[in-house]
Amino acid sequence: MKITVRTKHQNYTVACNEGERILYAALRSGAPLPYECATGTCGTCKARARPGDVRSHWQSAPGSSYLKPERGEFLMCQSTAHADCEILVPGKPAAEVAGGLLPEYLKGALCDLRMLTHDVAAFDVKLDGTMAFRAGQFVAVRTAGLEGYRAYSMVNHDERTDRLSFVVKRLPGGGFSNWLFDGSPQNQPLEVFGPLGRATYDPSEGKDILCIAGGSGIAGIMSILAHSTRAGHFEQHRGRVFFGVRGMRDVFFHEELSDFVTRAGGNLEVTIALSDEEVPASAQSDYPRLGFATGMVHLVTSERMSDQYGDAVAFVAGPPPMVDGTLRVLIVEGRLPASSIRYDKFG
Ligand SMILES: Cc1cc2nc3c(=O)[nH]c(=O)nc-3n(C[C@H](O)[C@H](O)[C@H](O)COP(=O)(O)OP(=O)(O)OC[C@H]3O[C@@H](n4cnc5c(N)ncnc54)[C@H](O)[C@@H]3O)c2cc1C
Ligand code: FES
Repeated sequence: MKITVRTKHQNYTVACNEGERILYAALRSGAPLPYECATGTCGTCKARARPGDVRSHWQSAPGSSYLKPERGEFLMCQSTAHADCEILVPGKPAAEVAGGLLPEYLKGALCDLRMLTHDVAAFDVKLDGTMAFRAGQFVAVRTAGLEGYRAYSMVNHDERTDRLSFVVKRLPGGGFSNWLFDGSPQNQPLEVFGPLGRATYDPSEGKDILCIAGGSGIAGIMSILAHSTRAGHFEQHRGRVFFGVRGMRDVFFHEELSDFVTRAGGNLEVTIALSDEEVPASAQSDYPRLGFATGMVHLVTSERMSDQYGDAVAFVAGPPPMVDGTLRVLIVEGRLPASSIRYDKFG
C-alpha cells in the first residue's frame, strides 16, 4: 500500500505492508515522523485520516486520550491502513538520529534469561541478522500470542551486533511480564523493530554527561556508559550517574557500575538513591566504589548537583513521574537547554 504523509514541512510517500503499523513503515523508509514511545502510551505520533482509511488495533491505548476522534485523529504506532490513503501529521517532524540509522524488522530468539533481583530479569536476544544502534536507543519487541509491541532499551552497546541485551522489571499482570517471568521463554522466537529513540549519546559532542535512572531505566544508561568508556570519554570529561531504586534488595548492576567507575579513573561518580529506606551501614563497605543516599532520585540529584551542571548533556529514563520530576530539576535548577536533555518515559 502507498501512504502519502503530509507534514507542515515536507510530504513523503511510504510503502506500507499489509498489517504493518503506519509509524513503523514511515520510520523504516526514512520519514522522520514525530514519536516517543512507539508503543501507544505517549500520544506524540498522532495524525489525521479520512474516516475508514485507517484502523486502530488498540482503541484504549493510553495515548488515545490525546486524540480528537471526531477530527479523524489516530495514533500512527497503533494503526494500519487497508488501501492507499493520505494522512496529515500535525506534529513537528523529529530531528533524525545522527548516523541515519533506519529501523528494520529482525527476528531472533530469547536466550540467557537470568534474575537480577526479586522482580528484575535480564535476557539477551540472539538476532538472525545484525543491528547497528546508538547507545541509549530501544527496540519494539513482539512475541507470539501477545497483542502489540513492547519497548525495551538495549543495555549493551556495539557499533553493530547480533546480540541485544535487556533488563525488564516485572509488572504484575503485564502481558510481556507474564510471558517472561511465568512462562518458558528460553529459546522462544521474538521479532524486534529498531533501533528507535533519540535519547542517544554521541561521543563527538565532547561534554560531561549526567545520567538519571529510575529502576529498569538504568538499561539505556548502561549502554551509554559502555560506549562512553570504550570511546575514552572519561579521559577528558566527567560523568555523574544517579540510579534510583526503593531499597538495597532492588539494586542490580552494582558490579558493572563499580567496574565503570574504576575504568573512568576518578572522572565518573555513581550514586544509588534509595527512596524507601535508610542506607544500611554495610552498603559502603560492600560497594566501596559506589555512593549511596536516601531519597527520591530526582531530589538526590538536585541536592548533589547543586550548581555543578555546567553544560552537561543529561540522559533520563524511568517511570513517567520520576522522569517528569527530574526534568523539572534539570530545567529549573540546572538551567540546561532542551537540546541537552534527552529522556525516555517507560510507560
Ligand atoms: C522507550 C521505552 C523504553 C522502555 N524500556 C524498558 C526497559 O528497558 N525495561 C523495562 O522493564 N521496561 C521498559 N519500558 C516499559 C515496557 O515497554 C513495558 O511497558 C513494561 O515492560 C510492561 O510491559 P508488560 O507487557 O509486562 O505490561 P502490559 O501492561 O501488558 O503492557 C504495557 C505496554 O505494552 C503495550 N501494550 C499493552 N497492551 C497492548 C495492546 N493490546 N496493543 C498494543 N500494545 C499494547 C503498551 O505500550 C503498554 O503500555 C520501556 C518503555 C518505553 C516507552
Ligand atoms: S509514539 Fe505512538 S503513542 Fe507514543
